[in-house]
Amino acid sequence: MRVVLLGAPGAGKGTQCKRIVEKYGVQHLSSGDILRRERAERTELGAKAQSYMDSGGLVPDELIVKMMAGAIAKAPKEGYVLDGFPRTVNQAQELDESLASDGKGIDAVVSLEVDEQIIMERMTGRRSCPKCGAVYHVKNLKPKVEGKCDNDGAELIQRPDDKPEVVKKRLETYYEQTEPVVAYYKRNGCVLELDAGNGVDEVGAKLFEMLDALAGK
Ligand code: AP5
Ligand code: MG
Repeated sequence: MRVVLLGAPGAGKGTQCKRIVEKYGVQHLSSGDILRRERAERTELGAKAQSYMDSGGLVPDELIVKMMAGAIAKAPKEGYVLDGFPRTVNQAQELDESLASDGKGIDAVVSLEVDEQIIMERMTGRRSCPKCGAVYHVKNLKPKVEGKCDNDGAELIQRPDDKPEVVKKRLETYYEQTEPVVAYYKRNGCVLELDAGNGVDEVGAKLFEMLDALAGK
């Protein structure tokens, strides 16, 4: 199964991808998580990406396309779910071209639709594990022990780009550069629109219905 999950910052892409991975055994390929890892490991790519990420802008297409092509090439036979990529129409076209040459196109594009007010609430309450990348929320998805990751006990942090002024810029970037990607896929194939404004379990159940239908279960 090869799926793209689209949605605004804070829509719940990472949260639902974790569930998809558990249920279908595919690999989670999150461009944001990969970039954060590159930064933590102080690689050249991480250094190049830093200023774009901290200001709420997009990392240049050529860096991202190369990075994600490498990740896709290593994905298992079960497939993958893309999170945060493609994020510009140019990235989507490059992805389509490279997958077409391998004869392994995307099976489905799911668009998580959420109101801006809910998005702000989700992002400002998010807490993340700097070690394993697990995502929590101070009200909606609490860890078992306050402030600690369930998986490894690490101290949870607020992502630097979840500061209100950066969130505002990320949303602007999304409307300008990433919303057109939804329109691109609508023109080129099938987009499954999912109302993602409800609770994590409810959204997950609807998403599984869509993906089960796709997998012919
Ligand atoms: P990235 O890490 O991809 O950030 P994003 O797209 O802004 O998305 P988020 O990770 O903020 O949100 P999410 O949808 O994953 O929500 P989550 O599940 O955490 O990118 C970061 C930066 O990297 C970019 O700004 C850019 O600079 C760069 N970058 C990355 N990809 C790039 C690309 N392709 N091209 C160029 N640059 C790129 O959920 C949010 C919160 O809500 C959590 O606390 C969660 O617990 C809670 N929550 C989730 N679902 C629900 C629900 N249903 N009900 C209640 N609470 C919920
Ligand atoms: Mg995410």
